[in-house]
Amino acid sequence: MKLTPISSAGGAIITEVDLKEILSAENQKKLKDALYKYGVLVIKDQEISDQDQFRFCEFMGGLGTRGKPLNRRKEDSDSEYAGTVHLVTNLTDQGKPLGSFGDGEVWFHHDGIFKEVPDAATVLYALAVTSTGGETVFANMHLAYDNLDSKIKAKLSGLSALNIYDYASRGRVDLNQDISQLNHWIHPLVIRHPETGKKALYVNPLMTARVEGISEFESNALLELLFKYQDNDDIIFEHKWDVGDLVIMDNRSISHARRDFPPGEPRMLRRTLVQGVSVNS
Ligand SMILES: [Fe+2]
Repeated sequence: MKLTPISSAGGAIITEVDLKEILSAENQKKLKDALYKYGVLVIKDQEISDQDQFRFCEFMGGLGTRGKPLNRRKEDSDSEYAGTVHLVTNLTDQGKPLGSFGDGEVWFHHDGIFKEVPDAATVLYALAVTSTGGETVFANMHLAYDNLDSKIKAKLSGLSALNIYDYASRGRVDLNQDISQLNHWIHPLVIRHPETGKKALYVNPLMTARVEGISEFESNALLELLFKYQDNDDIIFEHKWDVGDLVIMDNRSISHARRDFPPGEPRMLRRTLVQGVSVNS
């Protein structure tokens, strides 16, 4: 097994490993340690089944389940909510979507930040990719925290924010709606990674709706400031997809976004989750 770092901001390419095989305990530990160190692993040239992907999730911390979004779209397929596998795709079968999140740009977000117990990691396996665009961009949120001014760090201590998953929204969440109908949860603005103890900024422009306990004006100003620390070239790196790539990202230390891609070109990623534990400051 060979590891090549992607950038100074994080990420590593892994080659010379076959996830169809049962990996030795030593190699399983190497992959887990590498995930905590680099935040994102891109394991190249895989030809794996659902079961192989489940096994990978199991040894990376346990296979998680997606849970049912409260505000699912009527046009989405039933099967994607069934449990452990979800297709990120624009493909349809006789007009019915095979999955969801099919088209276009997606702003920076942490998968699972709207859950009481966020998923530890997201695993995506590429079955079809576009000729151009559709790259996943990752932000190292440990570095985002480290880059904060010490006065801001002090200000964030003890503060929490409401995070909402609004399926219908492509931008900032609209708080002038009944959020009891949307998946949402309050988490600290700064969390400690449950495995490494390192601090990470835990906000993102797509899902973090407001800071609790301060005025709306102050909350908006603070979030605008924090979002700038996230969308910063020094802490981001990206992945251009090839078929057969298996990518795992740590949702406690990494937020991610998707670049736009040509509509009409097929794209399909098979998504599974690694179960998490509570996140605390
Ligand atoms: Fe995502």
